[in-house]
Amino acid sequence: MSYEKIIADNKAWIDEVFTKLDKKLSRTAVTSRNKIPYTTKDGVHDDRSGNPHGWTNGFWGGLMWLMYEATKNEDYKLTALKSEEFMDKAFGEMDQFYHDVGFMWHILAGANYKLTGDMAARNKDILCAMSLMSRYNIDGNFIRSWNNHWQGQNNENWTIIDCMMNIPILYWASEQIGDERFKSIAIRYADMAMRDHVRPDGSVNHIVVHDMKKADTVLETKAGQGYAVGSCWSRGASWALYGFILSYIYTKEERYLDTAKKVAHYFITNLELNDWKPLCDFRAPEEPVYYDSTAGAIAACGMIEIAKNVPEYEKNIYLSAAMKLVKSLEKNFCNWEENEDSILQMGTEMYTNGIHKPIIYGDYFFTEAILKLRGSEFLPW
Ligand code: GLY
Repeated sequence: MSYEKIIADNKAWIDEVFTKLDKKLSRTAVTSRNKIPYTTKDGVHDDRSGNPHGWTNGFWGGLMWLMYEATKNEDYKLTALKSEEFMDKAFGEMDQFYHDVGFMWHILAGANYKLTGDMAARNKDILCAMSLMSRYNIDGNFIRSWNNHWQGQNNENWTIIDCMMNIPILYWASEQIGDERFKSIAIRYADMAMRDHVRPDGSVNHIVVHDMKKADTVLETKAGQGYAVGSCWSRGASWALYGFILSYIYTKEERYLDTAKKVAHYFITNLELNDWKPLCDFRAPEEPVYYDSTAGAIAACGMIEIAKNVPEYEKNIYLSAAMKLVKSLEKNFCNWEENEDSILQMGTEMYTNGIHKPIIYGDYFFTEAILKLRGSEFLPW
């Protein structure tokens, strides 16, 4: 079935979900304007605006920009700008920056620049790209992920698959400044992740530990936010799936498209086994059953982008899977009630902690997926 036919067959459902999104988000855009929400407590958004260094802090404003682009409702824009204002404090403490600048600023200040042309926002996004580039370890040939934020932890030689979603800021900066070095480092990272994080069967290692002094080495892998070493944390897989198709979109290197497809095939097979409800880890004991709705929403966005970038007779595989996935998320995990600020429930922070709760990036990626299905070509990444 063609891309257009799948969308046409599902148009009524997509429009209905968009209306529900706009109804809830146009309300919370006003009631949560002076917050940066992460989750909800008793149905009300919490507030992380006091800590501008949190990796999830860009998603609320980013979500507001997505909805502004779709509706031109000024309430969304005002809330996105307020979010960016809260986050500006972080630029006074750039030594605390880490690899998550893409999640934090590219979909916030970067989206602001793309939609309004604001040059101060562009400048912030470029500073973030410079900060990410400065984390490149020349000898080991990798980008350092975190800082030593846990007591006694030395993670200077760790990479995490999540960073595949941060390197698009480097491709973007290369285009903006006309300087190939940003792109060159992003390509090095994507090649490392393809070799060391993605396994031959399409499952994914969350954390890889490298030799600081010798390029292209793996000392060990770690379970990270998944069940165990060798398991497959589903959100990590979804970061890979979406991240590799984004690398393909920026570089047109076929190996990244092939890698995105490989991870998607593994992801889809596991979803089919479980009624299209994403487990938190695809390679964990049958009990307890832990879901992670956020992994599904991220993967749906990636699958839609894969569908747009493969030849005609392959599109059906990825778009049909994305449709089944968002429909399952909507049916099983969305809350449209007025007395709950969040939308997508049953997100999971990691296999051992923060199980089954609404998390802001779940709402962000679910909305991004619905807007893509509705025809939006706006790509904040
Ligand atoms: N980037 C951290 C996470 O996905 O939880």
